[in-house]
Amino acid sequence: MKSKELSRRDFLRLLGIGGGAAVLSACAPKLLAETAFPPTAIPATSVPSVPNTASGEVDVEIALKAIEGEAQILPGKATRVWRYQGEVMSGPADALQIVPNSYLGPIFNVKKGQKIRVHFTNELRESSIVHWHGLHVPVEADGHPRLAIDPGETYIYDFTVMDRAGTYWYHPHPHGRTGPQAYAGLAGLFLISDDEEKSLGLPSGDYDLPIVIQDRLFDSDNQLVYGGNGMMDQMMGFLGDRILVNGQADFSLPVATRPYRLRLHNGSNSRIYKLGWDDGTPFNIIATDGGLLEKPLDRQYITLAPAQRMEIWVDFSEKAVGSETKLINFPSEAPDGGGKFTIMNVKVERSESVSAPLPAALSTITWHNESDAVNRHSPREFELAMGRGMGWTLNGRTFEMTSVAQDEIVKLGDLEVWQFTNQAGGRGMMGGGMGLPHPMHVHGLQYQIIERSGGEQYTSLHEGFVDEGWHDTVLVMPGEHVKVLLKFEDFTGLYLYHCHNLEHEDMGMMRNYRVDA
Ligand code: C2O
Ligand code: CU
Ligand code: CU
Repeated sequence: MKSKELSRRDFLRLLGIGGGAAVLSACAPKLLAETAFPPTAIPATSVPSVPNTASGEVDVEIALKAIEGEAQILPGKATRVWRYQGEVMSGPADALQIVPNSYLGPIFNVKKGQKIRVHFTNELRESSIVHWHGLHVPVEADGHPRLAIDPGETYIYDFTVMDRAGTYWYHPHPHGRTGPQAYAGLAGLFLISDDEEKSLGLPSGDYDLPIVIQDRLFDSDNQLVYGGNGMMDQMMGFLGDRILVNGQADFSLPVATRPYRLRLHNGSNSRIYKLGWDDGTPFNIIATDGGLLEKPLDRQYITLAPAQRMEIWVDFSEKAVGSETKLINFPSEAPDGGGKFTIMNVKVERSESVSAPLPAALSTITWHNESDAVNRHSPREFELAMGRGMGWTLNGRTFEMTSVAQDEIVKLGDLEVWQFTNQAGGRGMMGGGMGLPHPMHVHGLQYQIIERSGGEQYTSLHEGFVDEGWHDTVLVMPGEHVKVLLKFEDFTGLYLYHCHNLEHEDMGMMRNYRVDA
């Protein structure tokens, strides 16, 4: 992968500007001044206005710290990283699982229904807060940027695990600094199990493995580089030229001749992957962002946008010991996705005979019904576009810490249709034709994708879309309209929706929505 030159050219092409370099540089100074890109410390933006004291009995209590540290990623010198470090204070010792040889945070292993308490201590030199991505939790536990804590402080999260069995994750969420903090290494998986899932006999233990895919850029001293392209990185989103899996470069997965459950997670700031096996074997997809599907799906490719998860069941029992397979990124219309490169190597190292067929049915799901939506005849519209001052906007607005607009207030208990429209035409100074993909994420719930239209030219990425199942992040291509069905249950207060291209998010492509009683 040669990322830098490609991205510059692709950027102009994607924005529909031929030879538009002059336009770009004219806009650059303002943007650079608006966003603190180099890792300088910024103070916490406000004091938590919600009660934050621990009380009562819980099933699992965990101390989680964000610290500065080092990790061996490339041969030679260790890389300075920021990382989460955890410790089980009470509850089952296996509630946390360390990812070996990795900067990634410990994997949470919890059960549906458990009461969780996390004491998060910020040992960085700038403010931070933890967000539990995909989880249905009260606002005080959602890690909104207004709750960011200063260095040395502790924030206590109390919540009950209400979500379905599946692969969720956690990462920082301070305003304007989510991109650099996640890039520096702050991220971890949050796995939920439940009785229905247990009864399926899916591969477990050593045969149930996380595959966290991230791209990074290193200098000659093995140190991480971020934001070196300034405004280009901000507008496009940061793209690295090294693929890491579970925090390791040139990752190779040793397997036995038997079935595995692989939990694929795109933990990259902005890179979109189109995944496939090099030998053409199709995927058996068993879960999306919000957990198990009703039944496995058979697909040739998987398009995985930032923040998305997809679980696959894969059987290596027909492979010869000593053989190798590769998980490949295939060329697509993703920005800078034009190359074919290896994500990881799978080495069949030993023989094992296990009869554990893929279950034909996975989960019984109670779906939302579109005809019950309070706005079924007129969806709530969200226009994703370039703003006047050159920055990405949602309905022409950028993030404000605590305010919501009239059209961002919903009612507790309501089922709604939201439509995300990626305005490839833009409303800004640069005229028509501009557009980038935006992976749209809504906090606090899982939604159903009920309709997708436009954007038919993205045939390659479309081959890998999996719109079935529950999602918290959906990729919306330029010119595309995506309708989702979401229900605001149990909790009132201020949540977020935003683009999960972390550079877009940090620049303000994020807004509050409020659930009123
Ligand atoms: Cu994964 Cu608001 O984010
Ligand atoms: Cu989230
Ligand atoms: Cu975006």
